[in-house]
Amino acid sequence: MEGLARLEYRGYDSAGVAVVTPGGLKWAKRAGKLTNLSTALKENPLPLATAAIGHTRWATHGGPTDTNAHPHISADGNLALIHNGIIENFNTLKDELAADGVSFLSETDTEVAAHLVSRAYNELGDLTAAMLAVTRVLEGAFTLLAVHADRPGTVVGARRNSPLVVGLGEGENFLGSDVAAFISQTKSALELGQDQVVTITADSVRVIDGDGNPVEPRAFTVDWDASAAVKGGFATFMDKEIHDQPKAVADTLLGRADKSGHLALDELHISESVLRSIDKIVVIACGTAAYAGQVAKYAIEHWCRIPVEVELAHEFRYRDPVVNEKTLVVAISQSGETMDTIMAVRHAREQGSKVLAIVNTHGSTIPRESDAVLYTHAGPEVAVASTKAFLAQITACYLLGLYLAQLRGNMYADEIRSILKELALMPDKIQRVVDNEEQVRDVARSMKDATSVLFLGRHVGFPVAMEGALKLKELAYIHAEGFAAGELKHGPIALVEQDQPVFVIVPSPRGRDQLHAKVISNIQEVRARGARTLVIAEEGDTAVEPFADVVFRVPQTPTLLAPLVCVVPLQIFACELATAKGLDVDQPRNLAKSVTVE
Ligand code: M6R
Repeated sequence: MEGLARLEYRGYDSAGVAVVTPGGLKWAKRAGKLTNLSTALKENPLPLATAAIGHTRWATHGGPTDTNAHPHISADGNLALIHNGIIENFNTLKDELAADGVSFLSETDTEVAAHLVSRAYNELGDLTAAMLAVTRVLEGAFTLLAVHADRPGTVVGARRNSPLVVGLGEGENFLGSDVAAFISQTKSALELGQDQVVTITADSVRVIDGDGNPVEPRAFTVDWDASAAVKGGFATFMDKEIHDQPKAVADTLLGRADKSGHLALDELHISESVLRSIDKIVVIACGTAAYAGQVAKYAIEHWCRIPVEVELAHEFRYRDPVVNEKTLVVAISQSGETMDTIMAVRHAREQGSKVLAIVNTHGSTIPRESDAVLYTHAGPEVAVASTKAFLAQITACYLLGLYLAQLRGNMYADEIRSILKELALMPDKIQRVVDNEEQVRDVARSMKDATSVLFLGRHVGFPVAMEGALKLKELAYIHAEGFAAGELKHGPIALVEQDQPVFVIVPSPRGRDQLHAKVISNIQEVRARGARTLVIAEEGDTAVEPFADVVFRVPQTPTLLAPLVCVVPLQIFACELATAKGLDVDQPRNLAKSVTVE
């Protein structure tokens, strides 16, 4: 249950557990959050056992009901199975099983796998062999775990296109969709590859490939501990993660440049000659990670003079993108398990492109399937709404841009050094914005009945505006839109009526020519139409004052680095407004932390 609580961020529609005891298989499952299952187990405890499986679900096939919750049980009541992912050919398999007289209790694709593994076990008499045989007929994405009443000390797992890691304990072993499941027991872990089948007991871990041959999985040590994944005195994980941001940025910068300001991204295993030869960068990502990519576009194009395209990962492979061996594809993902991004990575590599992953989660699929990885060091992010991972992703993108500029000779060493110096100041500046949270929280509470909020930004302020709108949508369920401020007059300004709240991200007055003045004009345009303007502006920028109903101040920062401070008030605003509405900030409705289905 403790492991499930740590994984609940992946899905929280329902939960279930099954234990194998000498007296047979017992299970419990409940719709709703894990607490519903906990309550049920307190009322009717399961017997003690030495092997168990558990699952929290994010519904794909069949609604979030007790019956559709995992585990799914074979018709003879001897096998329990849990599943992440989508079995794409489940309808055909279900028809075949139904023709053989199997009746189904749930609407899930998973139940098909439970019946298939049970049938294979009854034929083969071996749970590992049964699992292997079934993976050969399944299509799509899956992590499967099964226990059988005949094998009280054994759990068998398999994975394809969906994560599964092994935790190595002493006299105990674990399987989890990510290391958070077992981090309080062990930091020693094994990565499982595509189509591998794993069998664990208390004392052994055996892994085979899709042909049944033994394989030696790659071992790794988890570099964070359980305390990093608990709330640390904050009311919510999101609150904690907002406060973690100065450290997330500092840790991501750590060790990436020597004292003389020379960047050495040692983990970047793509040869220098390949990096010199690229003529285009395509960033693929989803949601908040894609907004980090949009910030990267401004910085990398400016510093390296390489064209950068940013594409939502789920659109990428369906539009026949023009990428080849001269394209560097940068896949950004907090979890490293976003299925849309994984599929885009595969497509890019099939076209001959090198893929560089910017990922927060060690041992996840995207870095494993990429040519190189630049890890962000944000620590575990648990709240569904991404905050510290976003800042760490932007930071990693800056490092990548500066590294490419150094390698390709686009910038002088002293120019790179001076930007690195500015970057080193960012953790303190972010801290100052976080320290001013009460002002933002007061305003957020006063706006808890808002029904629509607009966000405007130009240049790097544009992705910040979109991120501010996304945070408000996903946490407070309020209609929110982020616009490029210049686009306003081409249509969106029609939305502005009396008292419409409009956030405006104002660029530094010391930055690019005209940029600041243009945004000031945009504030005036919306204000003239009755908008209530909430302005994020640099300390000392007095030009905004006549046109702002509220000003949230951020420290003076070079234009390209400003997203690292400007987005923070927007995160705090969404978090507080959702809290004021009584909503669950860490687990908003309909969402999951990692979207592991396409
Ligand atoms: O794990 P990833 O970074 O690949 O996730 C991508 C998006 O699903 C994620 O950023 C999502 O948009 C967040 N809920 C936003 O707060």
